[in-house]
Amino acid sequence: MPTALVTGITGQDGSYLAQLLLKKGYRVIGVARRSSTVNYERIQHLLDDITVVQGDLQDQGSLLTLLEEYEPTEVYNLAAQSFVPTSWSQPALTGDVTALGVTRILEAIRFVNPKIRFYQASSSEMFGKVMEVPQNEETPFYPRSPYGVAKVYGHWITVNYRESFGIFAASGILFNHESPRRGLEFVTRKISDGVAKIKLGVTKELRLGNLDAQRDWGFAGDYVHAMWLMLQQATPDNYVIGMGETHSVREFCEIAFSHVGLDYKDFVVVDEKYYRPAEVDLLISDPSKARAQLKWEPSVTFNELVKMMVDSDLARLKK
Ligand code: NAP
Ligand code: GDD
Repeated sequence: MPTALVTGITGQDGSYLAQLLLKKGYRVIGVARRSSTVNYERIQHLLDDITVVQGDLQDQGSLLTLLEEYEPTEVYNLAAQSFVPTSWSQPALTGDVTALGVTRILEAIRFVNPKIRFYQASSSEMFGKVMEVPQNEETPFYPRSPYGVAKVYGHWITVNYRESFGIFAASGILFNHESPRRGLEFVTRKISDGVAKIKLGVTKELRLGNLDAQRDWGFAGDYVHAMWLMLQQATPDNYVIGMGETHSVREFCEIAFSHVGLDYKDFVVVDEKYYRPAEVDLLISDPSKARAQLKWEPSVTFNELVKMMVDSDLARLKK
């Protein structure tokens, strides 16, 4: 039975990837960092089928021990300090986890078993102030936050371990992907949760930042499939994963509010508190390489995604 070790198992993508790997017959080892209260909400339904172990990307020894003990054939590195605003308030921590953490896990692979296949969760935030439209695997990076800078490091160290040590190390440059399991601080979930609360009379307004920012949003369940496909190829490579279309935060609001019969203009309040020191104005992917080589296709459209998230928050809050 193939064994996959997944860092970031308690996160959005960790939960969807674990589900997919179980369906494909893997033994799944999920790495979670120690906390004073358990935060297994997203993997509650999987706890009988996966093994959750303690480890931390800031602790080299824990990563070495886990690889020795569980002998994975594939490692998916999804763990990160992943929230862009926090990367300005905690830039050194973000660099330590999101950048250096990648080196620590690659070092563990190099020492324990260089045949392990490795997936790095790279990000469209690396394109930042975009140098071309749309963005593909050859587009130069211009990160606009400590998070983006850390991800550029993670990407290049992955490429370097591939080229220097022959490790099967793939980098998936994923554009924004969302779901009902998205963290509440990210804009899509903040909107779907806000819409549900307003519809149910729990609150009267939704305070947001820059409504003109444009993102290429897809469904997380589709994107974890691309991660798995990257590790099944004959050779490791870099792949851009996205929908190939872009929408503004305002448009997300329009669809989400109108889905429950409301007009976003009556409830959304722009609050400069949510503006960023430097903004990424426009992201739009060119995923043609992934479509041709991985045969990857998304199954959920942008409109379906927005409605899925609003419906899910409505159902959750009604309970
Ligand atoms: P997420 O929900 O924020 O999950 C991040 C995970 O990393 C959580 O399980 C978190 O654990 C864990 N983590 C944080 N610091 C850690 C540490 N020091 N040691 C071990 N684990 C640690 O993020 P996501 O949306 O699932 O994204 C998964 C990965 O893809 C991240 O690397 C993210 O940067 C990247 N990415 C995401 C997107 C997107 O749109 N979602 C796009 C491109 C790339 P706790 O639960 O304990 O906090
Ligand atoms: N979070 C948030 N909250 N964002 C807001 C708000 C708000 O109230 N109002 C407007 N926005 C705008 C942000 O300024 C940004 O331009 C856009 O909405 C998206 O913000 P987030 O949802 O926080 O995501 P992100 O694009 O910064 O980062 C996400 O996607 C990256 C991939 O491009 C994260 O998942 C990263 O980890 C990931 O790498």
